Amino acid sequence: MYLTREEERIYEGERGTTLQKAMEILVALGDIYGADKLIPIKSAQIAGVSYKTIGDAGLDWISELEGKVVVPSTLNPAGMDLVRWKEMGISEEFALKQKRIIRTYSQLGIARDCTCTPYYLENSPRYRDNLAWSESSAVSYANSVLGARTNREGGPSALAAALIGSTPRYGYHLDENREPKVLIQVEGELKDSDYGALGVIVGGMIGDMVPLFRLETKPFLDELKALGAAMAASGAVALYHIENITPEARRYKEPEERITIEYHQIRGFYEDNSDVDIVALGCPHCSTRELIELASLLKDKKVKRELWICTSRAVKTRCRHLVKKIEASGARVFCDTCMVVSPACEGFKAMMVNSGKAHIYIPNLCKLRSVLANTQECIRTVLT
Ligand code: F3S
Repeated sequence: MYLTREEERIYEGERGTTLQKAMEILVALGDIYGADKLIPIKSAQIAGVSYKTIGDAGLDWISELEGKVVVPSTLNPAGMDLVRWKEMGISEEFALKQKRIIRTYSQLGIARDCTCTPYYLENSPRYRDNLAWSESSAVSYANSVLGARTNREGGPSALAAALIGSTPRYGYHLDENREPKVLIQVEGELKDSDYGALGVIVGGMIGDMVPLFRLETKPFLDELKALGAAMAASGAVALYHIENITPEARRYKEPEERITIEYHQIRGFYEDNSDVDIVALGCPHCSTRELIELASLLKDKKVKRELWICTSRAVKTRCRHLVKKIEASGARVFCDTCMVVSPACEGFKAMMVNSGKAHIYIPNLCKLRSVLANTQECIRTVLT
């Protein structure tokens, strides 16, 4: 991979050990994937934040770094609400470590926004912006819905890109890798959690291919968010197109390979909810539109089971009035974290979710049963 004189100096260690380590990561990636050079990025989003997932080894690694990031950078969700962690039943010991992780990242100049939906923050990416994001659902949204360009970075490579301000040019930064390779024809009218179920099915079938969807219904942006998150979880889909909807769909010709998904395959995901003791919504983190819907469904009602709603601190602050209405029902709106990366959900028996991604991750990462249902059914369940 070609390096400029300045990049070579960094690589040789003339700008300090942290930048040298960062450049080594980027060069190694570039060499593996055949990148020709580094290209500037507009922002970075860094995974490896929850103490539950990175542990002491991860904390030690980031503690050794010095300096500051040179592009706007945010974090993935942490293992707890950074303010209301006691309400989540988080231990003092966990909280101490989690706060140290956040402090360490913030000393590197990274914003304390811990969210998997950085596109709801100010300065959301624009069409064709190059990024280095690592949260797989955010990567999918940025590539597919916004038409920005990012590979599915690991935490260290996103952090390296944030410190250098560039990323190797390969993968989804190149036009030729954004072309769809399989047409997914979906039969039936989909809504709400159906998109998460569809994502689970398709991701499991196509791995990391780029699909072009032909849908009978026009999805909301939140439904696109759910579809991409689920495909990135059950497979490794980082980019998809939807005919007449997503910004790049019309640039490419129809792929020859075809798969048809019938509605009964999606329906097969919904099952009995009798032993649910917690309902958790907001995977990926809730948008304003989703909070509006939840506030309306919970109006003048009292929940009889635990209801946790996850969103970013920025969206929660922006929607204070809605959060107040939602919490009047007894539900809790947590931010900076989620039901999967927090250890707080591990004591429950069965969790109901409206997210295909959470539905896949909950049994393995939280060791409890997961039940998929649409948002209205989730709310009906907490009210009984
Ligand atoms: Fe976000 Fe957690 Fe889901 S990080 S995408 S809410 S698993």
